[in-house]
Amino acid sequence: MGKPCRSRELRYMDKFPLTTKRLVLGHVSVCQGCCCGNTANGKPAVPVEWLKKEWRARGLLKRIQLTISGCLGPCDIPNVVTISNESGTQWLGGITEFRQYRALLEWAIASRDAGELLPLPSQFREQCLHPFCNSDSGGGLFLFSGNRVIS
Ligand code: FES
Repeated sequence: MGKPCRSRELRYMDKFPLTTKRLVLGHVSVCQGCCCGNTANGKPAVPVEWLKKEWRARGLLKRIQLTISGCLGPCDIPNVVTISNESGTQWLGGITEFRQYRALLEWAIASRDAGELLPLPSQFREQCLHPFCNSDSGGGLFLFSGNRVIS
């Protein structure tokens, strides 16, 4: 009974392959859910409007997708950000200061100009978040630049 469904599914995928014309270098999701950025509950702000304005003004939108997301899950850590590309996702937490968002913007501009996601600035090394059971402690997907400032 199961096999006919599987072959029907495969035929469907052949006929309607999932492709997009909107290919990007990476995808940055900035959480603004129930906790992140909820200043009414005493949480640190997320500069959402500034991020959206800068992302647009710097011409990043078509190369590095910016999404202001709902809750990403680990609410006990303030201000969660994920950065994804074809290799996977790097989670960051504790992005609570404006200078960190500015550094993310500068990293995104440099990555756009380089045509690939560059190593994250070293200041984010301590912001790595591991939200999954059984994750190793070896860090994320992206190598961090030593003391080099990416701008
Ligand atoms: S609101 Fe950001 S992780 Fe839940």
